[in-house]
Amino acid sequence: MAGEGRPRTLFPMCGIVGYVGQKQALEIVVAGLRRLEYRGYDSAGVAVISDGELIVRKKAGKLANLETLLGSDPMPDSTTGIGHTRWATHGGPTDSNAHPHVSENGQVAVIHNGIIENFSELRDELTSAGVTLTSETDTEVVAHLLAAALPESDGDLAEAMRRTCRRLEGAFTLVAVDRRNPDLVVAARRNSPLVVGVGVGENFLASDVAAFVDHTRDALELGQDQVVAMTAASVVITDFAGEVVEATPFHVDWDTAAAEKGGYDLFMLKEIAEQPKAVADSLRGRISKDHRIQLDETHLDEGILRSINKVVVIACGTAAYAGMVAKYAIEHWTRLPVEVELASEFRYRDPIVGPDSLVIAISQSGETMDTLMALRHAKSQGARTLAICNTVGSTIPRESDAVLYTYAGPEIAVASTKAFLTQIIAAYLVGLYLAQVRGTMFEDEIRAVLQDLNDMPSKVDLVLDTTEPVRELARELSGSASVLFLGRHVGYPVALEGALKLKELAYMHAEGFAAGELKHGPIALIEEGVPVVVIVPSPRGRAVLHDKIVSNIQEVRARGALVVAIAEEGDEMIANYADHVIRIPAVPTLMQPLVAIVPLQIFACEMALAKGHDVDQPRNLAKSVTVE
Ligand code: AGP
Repeated sequence: MAGEGRPRTLFPMCGIVGYVGQKQALEIVVAGLRRLEYRGYDSAGVAVISDGELIVRKKAGKLANLETLLGSDPMPDSTTGIGHTRWATHGGPTDSNAHPHVSENGQVAVIHNGIIENFSELRDELTSAGVTLTSETDTEVVAHLLAAALPESDGDLAEAMRRTCRRLEGAFTLVAVDRRNPDLVVAARRNSPLVVGVGVGENFLASDVAAFVDHTRDALELGQDQVVAMTAASVVITDFAGEVVEATPFHVDWDTAAAEKGGYDLFMLKEIAEQPKAVADSLRGRISKDHRIQLDETHLDEGILRSINKVVVIACGTAAYAGMVAKYAIEHWTRLPVEVELASEFRYRDPIVGPDSLVIAISQSGETMDTLMALRHAKSQGARTLAICNTVGSTIPRESDAVLYTYAGPEIAVASTKAFLTQIIAAYLVGLYLAQVRGTMFEDEIRAVLQDLNDMPSKVDLVLDTTEPVRELARELSGSASVLFLGRHVGYPVALEGALKLKELAYMHAEGFAAGELKHGPIALIEEGVPVVVIVPSPRGRAVLHDKIVSNIQEVRARGALVVAIAEEGDEMIANYADHVIRIPAVPTLMQPLVAIVPLQIFACEMALAKGHDVDQPRNLAKSVTVE
């Protein structure tokens, strides 16, 4: 059996914060962790150095548990600290498994995001050397190794970190403090996110800029296999061999308010409401006055775009569904075949990609490990790669040949909403750009689509104006055991996304189907009263799709389904076939996903609320999935 004989491993995928400066480190670290709690919320912990002492507090459960502990057992003043919020895939989230982990001699504390793949061997080595390990984690191994490496590094924590990292296999961000170097925080990065926030008289480290954007918007990207040594006045970055390297600076173009709830009860509600702006921002600057797509920022080489013979989208979850929507459009506009592949499957099936393929990696976070690994595989096959991403400085865009950023602003709620819309927008822009460069559309055709895209922020706004009917319906149906979603054409990925939202938020059985596929098996699931949400294509345009879905509605209704139609204004006929009709604005077929998904997001959110669930941090999930 794989892994037999190995101790159970905890594979954290976590939020990390480090601070050194003049202020109270604990306050800054805990506030940063609050911003990063979306990354994991199984346990949280902090370490500070005060008067040459290393002090640690950690607690299983959400950050609030740690805060309660800090209230009853306060920490002393300190200007140097680190903090961690954890998501585990194996083993119980316990106090002892929570980070930071401290070396046996009490000198160093370490927090970690990722997997130390050779931890078992290292653990054996440490135990035979007489070290007693007190947790089940791979991280603790690093704490002991780091402490052991300090004397041979003349007490230089950065050098000890480099020595330690050279022994590690796997993916990791590590951050450490040493009680004998009270004004220093050291971190290392391999295949796992870490950014430096550069302040005045203070510096920050975090998995995500959201942790320090209150204090500074100037940041540095760290490259692969780099170590950063940070004091209040300096940031020195080296590779694992000790060579000093230059980091790429970047400026965070959103502010604190964007990462706050801004008057909403939930991040998800705020992010749903931000969708019109997110769409508008993602279009801005990309359409010239003479109605041409300008994507110069991506550095997409026109010669390459002319030479490719297929497009492959790699992505996970919601991002993959955005890719599925885009497939309909890109194929239609460019006549290039578009494959959409779940990133986690891509490299295991020996995909046919090479220099003639444009591989588009779609990722909100830019850190999803499945997508990153698929991207690397595509690159190794010589494919041209383009990232569609929402997070500046993250790994996926950094490792892609070209990048088109979505401007959704920070998405904090675990359930993706505005990222989905902006990913569709970005992928559509790429499709239109391909059509423009390859001459597969006339200028006036492109202009008409651009006009449709420009209309979308106000159309999405219209959906947001009237959410009460869908919320009421969600409350009414919250006792259902299962909800099915049907769609055709671009409505099919919308059905999949609607079902995903309901699963992750309402913990309810939900499935999306291509409406025509139902009769090939899934229709057996229909029984009296089962809610079936149907994304109804416009009766205008390709009326055949509308006719077919009406037939599908009749099939399920005849078997007792309770039909909820998501249908455009003016489609009066649909009322004859549905038990409930949720109205969306009439838009061209390819634009419909941008409005049709919105009521489904609200439906899932409201149903989760009705069931008393934590909407922003659903159970078992994390925002950024940095393990495969
Ligand atoms: C959906 O609500 C999820 N948050 C999830 O499916 C997500 O879209 C997926 O994990 C991919 O994340 P990414 O866009 O950050 O790569």
